[in-house]
Amino acid sequence: MNFQAKDTSIEQLKADCLVVAASEGDQQNAAFTSVDKLLKGQLSELIRAGDIKTGLGATTLLPGLALGSVKRLLVVGLGKTSPLSRDQFQKVARNIAGKLYSKSIKTAAIALDTIAVKGADDSWQASQVAREITLSSYQYDTTKSEKRKPVALKAVNYVVADKKLLAAAKKGLSHGAAVGEGMNLTRELGNLPGNYCTPAYLASQARSLARNQPKLSVKILKEKEMRELGMGSLLSVAAGSDQEAHLIVMEYKGAAKTVKPHALVGKGITFDSGGISLKPGLGMDEMKFDMCGAASVFGAMKTLLTLAPAINVVAVVAAAENMPNGKATKPGDVITSMSGKTIEVLNTDAEGRLILCDALTYVERFKPQSIIDIATLTGACIVALGKHMSGLYSNDDAMAGELAQLSQAVCDKAWHMPMGDEYQKQLDSNFADIANIGGPHGGSITAACFLSRFTEGFTWAHLDIAGVAWHSGNLKGATGRPVPLLVEYMLSKVGKK
Ligand code: BES
Ligand code: MN
Ligand code: ZN
Repeated sequence: MNFQAKDTSIEQLKADCLVVAASEGDQQNAAFTSVDKLLKGQLSELIRAGDIKTGLGATTLLPGLALGSVKRLLVVGLGKTSPLSRDQFQKVARNIAGKLYSKSIKTAAIALDTIAVKGADDSWQASQVAREITLSSYQYDTTKSEKRKPVALKAVNYVVADKKLLAAAKKGLSHGAAVGEGMNLTRELGNLPGNYCTPAYLASQARSLARNQPKLSVKILKEKEMRELGMGSLLSVAAGSDQEAHLIVMEYKGAAKTVKPHALVGKGITFDSGGISLKPGLGMDEMKFDMCGAASVFGAMKTLLTLAPAINVVAVVAAAENMPNGKATKPGDVITSMSGKTIEVLNTDAEGRLILCDALTYVERFKPQSIIDIATLTGACIVALGKHMSGLYSNDDAMAGELAQLSQAVCDKAWHMPMGDEYQKQLDSNFADIANIGGPHGGSITAACFLSRFTEGFTWAHLDIAGVAWHSGNLKGATGRPVPLLVEYMLSKVGKK
């Protein structure tokens, strides 16, 4: 998609579709008023008659209203509250985006004028619009025999009222489009079935991300090398599968060599059957999404490659398939992790923490300034927070605070959850240093506690994205979260230290 910021006056706009925003009530913005005037008051007439809806996010497409070369008008409602919350603006942007992909719209002009959004500037608004339009352009068809027709929409002009706003809009547009593209990669990898998206496939994705990218280097470790490193925990998960585990290491170098990197670590279980602790059949297909943490790491790296910030990032993806066979790990087995800690596997379905603990130990060799791991780790997180927010855990309150705040700012929310000694105790084992489950209570918390045992001495946060990574039901599909949060966190580190 070609996004451009323009300060063209409404009269001179050329587009297949012009988007303006209308409030509920008499007070309308300048862009709306100019269009209404050019149409001799027809818009306000239609609002009065109830034919244009002005409730928050409502859209009315008006073909056939002649306005120079503009063939159709799209009016989006802003409701009656002002300023809007960021979430409310996002809804407006999403609903606009959903309407622009009709076959007859090749170029769109979006003239929202100044919408007041609590705590958000013009650049943020442009970025949300570009993100939502980019997200709407994606539709899964990779494993369908009938391919989706290419989208008609080619160019979006984001119209600002004043030349002074051009630079901010332009910056927001490229940021939002880059985030949207990263999210779309995350969605595609998440949506691919487990027989396509294997650990080896994820490794090939890393290689293709790095192609022609001098700032990105990739290293893949296979099981032999992992065995030499003593990654007994990660390997214990892959033991029951015919798919070889892969540890994928990507280094983005946007700053000087001496600058310590920030680390991302992703859970990449390409299918989670539960292993010997087999899951029930209902909804098991959704466990192809158990690599969405890894997918969000790929998406964030893609966005960073586009935006090219001056930071260093190291990303580690632990990719494996959790299956039951004669070689599979059994409940009661004790394994030895790369850190040397022994783990009693009481439930082979608590496999995410088992691959992550070795990946976390591995990433410490890069001496990262901070580490974020991202994982569809526990059903218990969905019980606790529902499908709206990621569970956010950290051994550093400042880092948790930063992430929680950024998550609100980019509408990719995460909620700071507790960890503490009383929960840590639930992981005591009679036969190993630590058990891999902490009983039925506080399951998302005890999973985070497990990971915390492998990040001592490092500034670390964990995002449990079990609830937010994909939608179930009719809209089944990966969401692309939490790419916006990961990208924003990394961008907030530019120029620090
Ligand atoms: N991948 C699942 C967590 C999950 C379940 C995410 C449902 C999204 C939806 C994870 O590997 C798992 O199976 N966790 C177990 C842990 C339990 C055995 C302690 C769970 O949540 O039931
Ligand atoms: Mn599991
Ligand atoms: Zn899992």
